[in-house]
Amino acid sequence: MPELVDLRSDTVTKPSPGMRQAMAEAEVGDDVFHEDPSVNRLEEMVAALYGKEAALYVASGTMANQIAIRAQTHHGDEIIMERTSHPFNSEAGALAALAGVQVNLIDGQHGVMDVEQIRPVMRTPNVHHAPTALICLENTHNRGGGSIWPLENIRAIREFARSVSVPLHLDGARLMNACVATGLTPKDYAQYFDSCTLCLSKGLGAPVGSLVIGSTEFITKAHRFRKQFGGGMRQAGILAAAGIYALEHNVERLAEDHLNAKRLARGIADIDGLDIDVNAVATNILYFDVRQPGLTVSTLLERLKTAGVLMLGTGPNSIRAVTHLDVSKEGIERAVEVLRQVVQ
Ligand SMILES: Cc1ncc(COP(=O)(O)O)c(C=O)c1O
Repeated sequence: MPELVDLRSDTVTKPSPGMRQAMAEAEVGDDVFHEDPSVNRLEEMVAALYGKEAALYVASGTMANQIAIRAQTHHGDEIIMERTSHPFNSEAGALAALAGVQVNLIDGQHGVMDVEQIRPVMRTPNVHHAPTALICLENTHNRGGGSIWPLENIRAIREFARSVSVPLHLDGARLMNACVATGLTPKDYAQYFDSCTLCLSKGLGAPVGSLVIGSTEFITKAHRFRKQFGGGMRQAGILAAAGIYALEHNVERLAEDHLNAKRLARGIADIDGLDIDVNAVATNILYFDVRQPGLTVSTLLERLKTAGVLMLGTGPNSIRAVTHLDVSKEGIERAVEVLRQVVQ
């Protein structure tokens, strides 16, 4: 049986032998007391990478977003985000349950918004309104198909947000994918945001962990909410060491994942009964539609699974595939071949 080609998500990667060794050898201490040298090093590394004063290591991307939002809003406030954004759709209702905010949703283009869509939905002071307390962007945008935000859009939203004294948050779970694809640095993006996140357990290949990044004042607040959300970990350096290893070894290679995503997209475009916009594939995530009469997404996914290829159903006609460091060029070629055989 050939090896499984698992394209459901870039979160399915397993730690490499080098990463496991770094974890085994990590210096540790009690991180709730700020005494874990590996966590401290990771936080300093990421703060410097983003050009910010401080960072905080947390368990997951969801926790990172929710802490950042909680620390910049009050219960009952309103935040603005794009309709298909991750914190609204895929964080188990945490915006309501943990951050305690309501959301004003905007329909973007592949997850990307224009400042002119935001301007009119800002709340003016009025006793009937929940005040607009935060604007959130996501780069790259997961449901937008791994799309990359143009800097002009970010800049325009920043300028507007500053003029109305509303902070800007970046869900940067996959910001490194945007950086590798564009040649821009994390600082180039982060300069426009009051708070940012970064996930180590997606394309970067660590088993656990995300960071919240911002000013010292913001991170002090975030630290308290991490504890309140039950995210104070103790000898977390054993995990942070994997994050340090990921940042030192797995950033530049994201370019391979992007090439593989393009390869896969071109293969899919060649198969009758499947529909994809190859030009929309910007990083490591792609979505395609099943248009073959009589073939459902669930049947197609089952057939793929039987042949050793895993993808994710995301709608009545739509499937997502994500490339990552545990899928090779050969794996992608096999996935295309299998797709061709099972779409009938
Ligand atoms: C854009 C984005 N933000 C946040 C998250 C949440 O990360 P986690 O699964 O670690 O909670 C994800 C997860 O896929 C994501 O794609």
